[in-house]
Amino acid sequence: GSSGAAEGVLTGQRLVITAGPTREPIDPVRYISNHSSGKMGYAIAGAAARAGARVIVISGPVNLDAPDGVEVRPVVTADDMLRESERAVSEGCDVFIATAAVADYRPESCAGDKIKKTRDAMSLALVRNPDTLATIAARPDAPFTVGFAAETTEVARYATDKMQRKKLNMIVANDVSTPGLGFNSDHNAVTVFWPEGQQAIGPDSKHSIAAQLVALIAEHSKKVGN
Ligand code: CTP
Ligand code: CA
Repeated sequence: GSSGAAEGVLTGQRLVITAGPTREPIDPVRYISNHSSGKMGYAIAGAAARAGARVIVISGPVNLDAPDGVEVRPVVTADDMLRESERAVSEGCDVFIATAAVADYRPESCAGDKIKKTRDAMSLALVRNPDTLATIAARPDAPFTVGFAAETTEVARYATDKMQRKKLNMIVANDVSTPGLGFNSDHNAVTVFWPEGQQAIGPDSKHSIAAQLVALIAEHSKKVGN
């Protein structure tokens, strides 16, 4: 139909997609996380499956059903997301799409017991989490890699910087300063960058954006040929 990527454009392709937030435990009952809904990643997964791909989603905690024909592998922390992504890519992967909002830092340690309210102020020591997308892109057998960049200012510059720094084939830039678009919304508007060009998509529903992204990724991943 008109809302889908051309039928069969990803036939025989194996996709791994990260989606949703991660949760970084502070103690047995508390965690650090963010407002990612996972909707964009799940919409891309569904569109890619409809386009003929075998799709695995490495998913942080979300309230979404697995799209038809998509295998969801649930994870909680950024460490889990890296480990499960590496495992899925090792099984064979042509295209890796990182839509997850991975927590950049985690508590240095998780308290064994619930932290009690005994002090007037407290601070939490945080350490940096591993970067799943950069790790996958640095593999000698790296698939075609697609990143997402949610930015509030200088969207094009920050996004293309990320593409170069992480050695990505493509980056989808999201201006999250626009109310009602992006995080936790059903709508989005993005600009896709690759080393030789760019294309704006939307504003549109996340499902329509997903189908258009899948078509663009299919076209470019074939050109690069890995
Ligand atoms: N990403 C990832 N693992 C991380 C952090 C980010 O796989 N630990 C991926 C995201 O899924 C996204 C891309 O990297 O596809 C860019 O994420 P973003 O948060 O915009 O970039 P960072 O490198 O974390 O930089 P910053 O948050 O400082 O802008
Ligand atoms: Ca980040």
